[in-house]
Amino acid sequence: MKIPIKALMELAVIVHSHSGIVLKKNKAYLIEDRLQPLMEEYCLSSFDDLIAKAKTSSQLTGHIVDRMTTNETSFFRDKRPFVLLKEKLLPDWQANQRQKRSQLNIWSCACATGQEVYSIAITLMEYFKGNFSSHTVKIKASDISDSAIVKASRGLYSNYEVSRGLSDAHLNRYFTREDPYWKIKDELRSMAYFEKLNLLQPKIEYGKFDIIFCRNVAIYFSKADRQRLFQNLSACLNDNGVLIIGATETLFDINEQLKRVDCGGTAYYCHK
Ligand SMILES: C[S@@+](CC[C@H](N)C(=O)[O-])C[C@H]1O[C@@H](n2cnc3c(N)ncnc32)[C@H](O)[C@@H]1O
Repeated sequence: MKIPIKALMELAVIVHSHSGIVLKKNKAYLIEDRLQPLMEEYCLSSFDDLIAKAKTSSQLTGHIVDRMTTNETSFFRDKRPFVLLKEKLLPDWQANQRQKRSQLNIWSCACATGQEVYSIAITLMEYFKGNFSSHTVKIKASDISDSAIVKASRGLYSNYEVSRGLSDAHLNRYFTREDPYWKIKDELRSMAYFEKLNLLQPKIEYGKFDIIFCRNVAIYFSKADRQRLFQNLSACLNDNGVLIIGATETLFDINEQLKRVDCGGTAYYCHK
């Protein structure tokens, strides 16, 4: 079923106001593809009916946003941020912490189905050689998509998913086979806590983090929303905190509180 332009505009307003995701006219095919199955589930016969119902049902609005998110991800995506973590950020953090014995707090703030979170956990496990407890290292993992966060927290992946970015050594060391899936081991699962969170909600009060991964999500937002997002994330960083964004993303012309530091073929941001 083709979506009429008026319905597309109304859906774009709904999705934007609940997630910040910008849907342009050229995304009609995507909306049709992703929302028609939802219309069938709710026994609705037109996009107008979907919009009318969404106006009175926050549950349906949540489902619409969920379907319109793009949860594309993979283990060790872009590789370099994880090398940076192991070879620069963790040694720096440890050097700053000597004697203080405080907790290392990491936030994966648009974690999709969890591959980024477990890639961070594997990196930590290998860096500290398993020599830490869940009291000393915490990974907060959040996403706006209910279905993505449920999957992330289960830590259950298909053959195809583990074939994207995981070495055989990592697969055999950190996953157990639960046919037809692979399940992340408890020692890694217990390092992370998962929560649904809209990054564009008016206030993010999450405490302070040493390292924030915010990769491949701001690309879906308007410039004004990106500015607001990175201002909020900057406030969530510890004094020596570090922000990692996606390989194709930049804070140029978006945020002036954070400075870019180039390192090992990638970059991170920290307070000026
Ligand atoms: C392409 S995935 C990126 C996943 C991972 N960070 C990576 O780079 O592989 C983008 C994620 O951002 C999430 N997202 C979109 N809008 C969001 C918002 N307003 N707040 C939190 N998460 C959001 C989507 O649900 C999706 O899972």
